Amino acid sequence: MRCCLFALVTLSLGVNAMPHAPQVMKKSTSVGGQKPFSFPLANGFPNIAQGSDALTEIEKQAHGTLPNGALPTEIADNSVAVWQLIAFNELFEVAYFSNLIENITDGISGYELASPAARNVITTALEAVRAQEEVHALGANGILQAAGRDPINPCEYIFPVDNLDSAINFASVFTDIVLGTLQEALKVFGSDGDAVFLGLVGSVIGQEGEQNGFYRTVDKSALPPSTQPLLTASSGPFLLSALYQTVIVPGSCPDSLPIPVFGALNVDTSYLKAQTQELDFSYYTNETTVSTEGLSLVYINGQNTPVVEKLSNVQLVDDYVHFTAPFPYQEYVMDGLTIAAVTNSVGPFSDASDVAAATLYGPGIIELA
Ligand SMILES: *[C@@H]1O[C@H](CO)[C@@H](O)[C@H](O)[C@H]1NC(C)=O
Ligand SMILES: *[C@@H]1O[C@H](CO)[C@@H](O)[C@H](O)[C@H]1NC(C)=O
Repeated sequence: MRCCLFALVTLSLGVNAMPHAPQVMKKSTSVGGQKPFSFPLANGFPNIAQGSDALTEIEKQAHGTLPNGALPTEIADNSVAVWQLIAFNELFEVAYFSNLIENITDGISGYELASPAARNVITTALEAVRAQEEVHALGANGILQAAGRDPINPCEYIFPVDNLDSAINFASVFTDIVLGTLQEALKVFGSDGDAVFLGLVGSVIGQEGEQNGFYRTVDKSALPPSTQPLLTASSGPFLLSALYQTVIVPGSCPDSLPIPVFGALNVDTSYLKAQTQELDFSYYTNETTVSTEGLSLVYINGQNTPVVEKLSNVQLVDDYVHFTAPFPYQEYVMDGLTIAAVTNSVGPFSDASDVAAATLYGPGIIELA
């Protein structure tokens, strides 16, 4: 069923103790009955002045401060887009973890933890993460402001989860997408004259990786903390599209970023196995006839060259184009995050950025162990 809320994550993890528990992110378009999350937080975030007590308190909870060195007063336009995307994403993450902590603290249905020790482990970790994401968001906006560029304001959010297992699992999925996208941030900074940011972004990549090891460890499926030897690459438009398609309340964002947002690509196969198989996909169309001539389904996994597949069994049903494509799991050992996209060409594509430049619908999110 493709309807209803932002029911994007078909999380079988709560009931599935297999090491190769499949995860599929599904997309949908309406807000449903959930009350959107909106800022500010009780401490005033994101409106935190430099030198304020509120900032000191955040830094204490984050176990570290914002960088105290001078920031560049000029940065390239491409770098501006990257920092805006990072700020946009970090604001979402602060919203997410604040709401998650609130759910656990209030002990609402689905978020009860019977063991005080387990509760303590989880809330201690998540409170540190929330403050660390606050530092990341303030840092990204601080860089934009120091360079005389527009900082990013928060949107309103809705979360596609309603219990602790699925919430931790979703945190792991979006962290994987962020970890892929920050690889591209390094490429941009390294090639447009803003190499001064490379070390800083490297420190954030490691930090988000530490978080993900924790999410995977507390996941019901007891996944190994580290995913793949080389994490899956992504691209800015995939991260921004995933956020718009899954957590942003439509029309609630005050700022628009100079980055495209694609139509959603649903991965409709509900039980994914770690094996080569034919997968079902769909995307919305307002057209009454369908041609997929010239389109390809592309997979990005690890640091391999993107895999290009043909669309088969194309059908138009109730405004959705349905099709299937092979998922060559075995050949490439496609564990961890795989990003799927419908592109307007057959490539070949050299990397994730190259795929994003030709994408019409995506990202379809597939996670295996
Ligand atoms: C918090 O709980 C509400 C009510 O179940 C849910 O709608 C929301 O998605 C939850 N948020 C998180 C981050 O788990
Ligand atoms: C279909 O959608 C496209 C892109 O959103 C839009 O430009 C076009 O006007 C729409 N066509 C119809 C018939 O609604």
